[in-house]
Order: sequence, then C-alpha cells, then structure tokens
Amino acid sequence: MAYLMGIDIGTSGTKTALFDEMGAVIASHTAEYPLYQPQNGYAEQEPADWWNATVEGIRAVLHKSGVSPSSVVGIGLSGQMHGLVMLDERGEVLRRSIIWCDQRTAAECEEITAKLGYDRLIAITANPALTGFTASKILWVRNHEPELYEKCRHILLPKDYIRYRLTGEFATEVSDASGMQLLDIPNRCWSDEVLEKLEIHRSLLGKVYESPEVTGKVTRRVAELTGLAEGTIVVGGAGDNAAAAVGTGVVRDGRAFTTIGTSGVVFAHTDRMAIDKKGRVHTFCCAVPGAWHVMGVTQGAGLSLKWFRDNFCGAEKETAALMDVDPYYLMDKEAETVPVGANKLLYLPYLMGERTPHLDPNARGVFFGLSAIHTKKDMLRAVMEGVAYSLNDCLSVFHEMGVSISDMMACGGGGSSPLWRQMLADLYACDVKTLASREGPALGVALLAGVGAGVYASVPEACDAVIKADRVQSPIPENTAKYAPYYQLYTALYPAVKTSFSQLSKL
Ligand code: XUL
Repeated sequence: MAYLMGIDIGTSGTKTALFDEMGAVIASHTAEYPLYQPQNGYAEQEPADWWNATVEGIRAVLHKSGVSPSSVVGIGLSGQMHGLVMLDERGEVLRRSIIWCDQRTAAECEEITAKLGYDRLIAITANPALTGFTASKILWVRNHEPELYEKCRHILLPKDYIRYRLTGEFATEVSDASGMQLLDIPNRCWSDEVLEKLEIHRSLLGKVYESPEVTGKVTRRVAELTGLAEGTIVVGGAGDNAAAAVGTGVVRDGRAFTTIGTSGVVFAHTDRMAIDKKGRVHTFCCAVPGAWHVMGVTQGAGLSLKWFRDNFCGAEKETAALMDVDPYYLMDKEAETVPVGANKLLYLPYLMGERTPHLDPNARGVFFGLSAIHTKKDMLRAVMEGVAYSLNDCLSVFHEMGVSISDMMACGGGGSSPLWRQMLADLYACDVKTLASREGPALGVALLAGVGAGVYASVPEACDAVIKADRVQSPIPENTAKYAPYYQLYTALYPAVKTSFSQLSKL
C-alpha cells in the first residue's frame, strides 16, 4: 500500500496528515504557533515556527502510524496564502513574514493601481490591488525597510518556504502564486508587465509549477531530521482554498463549496477562465492543471456568530456546559424557532469590513429593523441569515460572470450547522452536501501528491476514488420564496449606508 502525506501550514497551526490510497487518515498531528500583532492592523508569523511545526508533525505521524518511510510515496504542501517570506543570499529569513490578514499596505495598493492602472491590473492579475495580497507587502518592505529589501534574494509564500526547507528548491505553483498579484492569471506564468512596472526583479521569484507536478525531493539532511525517506517527492500543492477544493471534490465545472469558518468562502471551479471586471471576486488558477476557480470572501462569517455567542449568549454557554454540548448546538435550536426573515430583522455581517462584493474596509455590522418585539432569538437568527445573504451575494456575482453551480458542498465549523446549511440551500436554491472526510486541504494536497507519484491518473480521478458525499439538504421551495424579498432588501442596505460607514471611520 502507498501512503500520501499532506502538510497544511495554517494560521493557527500546521496540520500534518498521512493518508492511504483510499483517502483514509492513518495519522495526523497539529502543532500550533503564535500570531504576532505588533501594531493595530499588523499580522506577522515566524517562518521558523512553521518549519519546527512541520518537522514535529512529520515525526509524529510517522511514529504514530508505524508506516515505513519508503511507503510514503509523495508529499503535498498547502497553506495560508499571500504571506511574504524574504530570504537573503544564504537562504536565511530576513524578517518575520507579513501574513494574509495584515492590513498595513493601503498606500502600496494605491501605488500599484497608479503604476498598472485599475483595469489593466484586473485584466492580468484578475484582482484589484488588495492589502492582503503579497505584491503590496513586498512594496511596503521596499518603502519602509529599504536596507532589508536590498539584502532580499528570494521571495516565497509560506508553504513554499517549507518546500525550500524540505527540498532546497525555490518554487511555487499556480494556485498560491495567483494570490501574489504578480501572476498572469490567464496565462499561468509570472507577468513581465506587472514585474517591470512594480520594479520587482524576476530572479526573486521561484519557478512556477502546476499543482500536481513534482517540484523537488526530500534532502538527506531532512530525511535524517524527520525520518522521511531521502528522495521522497514533494509536489506543487496548493493554496488553502484550492487545496480544500481538491479535498472536497470541487474539481469539475458545476461544482462549488461554501466554507463558514471565521471568514466565509464561496468557491467554484471553472474550466473556462472568468474574470469579474469590477474585481468583486477573486479569480485564481486552481489545482487542476489548466483550470481556474472563482472565489468570494465574507470577512465576518463564523466570526459574526462567535461575536454574538461571546457577547450575548452567556446563558447558552452555561447550559451547554451542563449538558456537555456545544453552545452553537443550543443557539442553532433557538434560531430554528424563529421564522424565515427573523420577524423582519436584518443583519449586515461587516464586523471586519468586507471583501465580496463590497471591497470596503470601513463597512461595519448593522442590525436593521430592530423593534421592541424582538428578542435575542430573533437577533441570533438574523445574524445567521445575514451571513447566508452575504454568501449568496458571492454566488450572485458568479452567476453574473456566467459561472453556474449545480453541486454545493458545505464545510468549516458553520457548515456543520444543519440550520445554516438549510439557509444556504434555500437561498442558493440548490442541494447543499457535506462530506464524510473532514480533512479538507491536507487531504487535497495528499491527493495532488498521489497524482504526482502516479497513484492516480489525474486530479478529478483522484477525487472520484476518494471523496464521498455524506448528508444532502435540499432547498425548501416555500423558504426560497420567503427569503427572496428579504435578500432583495439586504442587497439595498449596503449602498444606502456606504457613505455613512466612511463618515463613521473618520470620526
Ligand atoms: C484567501 C485568504 C485566506 C488565507 C488564509 O484569499 O486570504 O483563505 O489563505 O487562510
């Protein structure tokens, strides 16, 4: 039996998992590390922490599983996207990584837009300049830490730094590179035009592969350190969402997934490249060679419900502790007793600004329509509905772009709520499914490693062999009809208060 290893370098920790050819988890290990926030809006991590967590994870899964290292036929890497890792000529890390959620680069985004032009930037990189993306972080270091930038010889993404440590190769792959804002998304290669206009030397960037391609082999030193066999192949892998797509079988036209984690993501596979000219959703190369995906992000999805739980649901927390259940389970039950529309109460989930469809850091959360008849239960349901409306906003942009969806998976913590899944099914007007496997990105990149190692013939065939849908929830037609006017009202609220959000930010 061949075994495949997936390593996912997340923001809270690195998960290493070993799978057999059927996709069953043989062993897994998560090692956590800190997030540094030296100033408001800053977010940094130590690349050495990712590496130590990776070494710990590999050793742990080999030890726990008892699998012979030579049976591990391939390794796939996944991880948080966009983070900037800078190395000097000796391959030493020059500064802490500025990661995806760091917001310090508003001025650099203006610089990028001025140098490239808004429309041209979207035509090449499929996105407007975003503070989260890597290009603006590179410019920030050049503008604020010029001596350090002078010493920089290699720019890598988080998982690609781990690739470098495992194999000695400077490389990336198309899905993660898409989030750097330096890749020509239609042509799947570095954009000379963007690099020239931003004056970033191409030699700083690694070689770009397709996700299942072999990018290097585990070195002897790393084999000694981790217990892996020297020469084990490491494939390109994928950014976390593209990897999750493989891990949920979203690898063909018509397939999509919705994740409700802290943020919410609606992700759809597309064989035909589609870019939203208004830049409301991201178009990235996906992990299936020659295909793309579109992706919308709701910044405050699970975060909205967590905020509500932590500020207003002390009683539910106490009862849940006595009953030995999750407070979210009780909150779900309470929200279920409230009818569709939360008794005419709407919620805008913009607690952390918004990305899709309103790219607006000044957007704020709103309860609209509060009346003396409302209780906490109505507010709770309104929060869940508001998040579902926002996710439906992402899907509406996909429809406008001609990306159609017939099959939707639900993932993340929020995806385990039957009520939330029903809201999505009713609003999307399509079946919403869950999966038997909960391994997401780690499984996704292990399957890519399987393709690279020749265990499976292609990415879709790997998914067909391994991914099994679990529960299906179908839309309830009466609910779909009832939600329609509420959703319509919801979409009218942001434009009505947009200028007030901006005024509020200046007070
Ligand atoms: C994607 C994004 C996040 C990060 C961290 O654009 O910002 O999904 O990859 O998980």
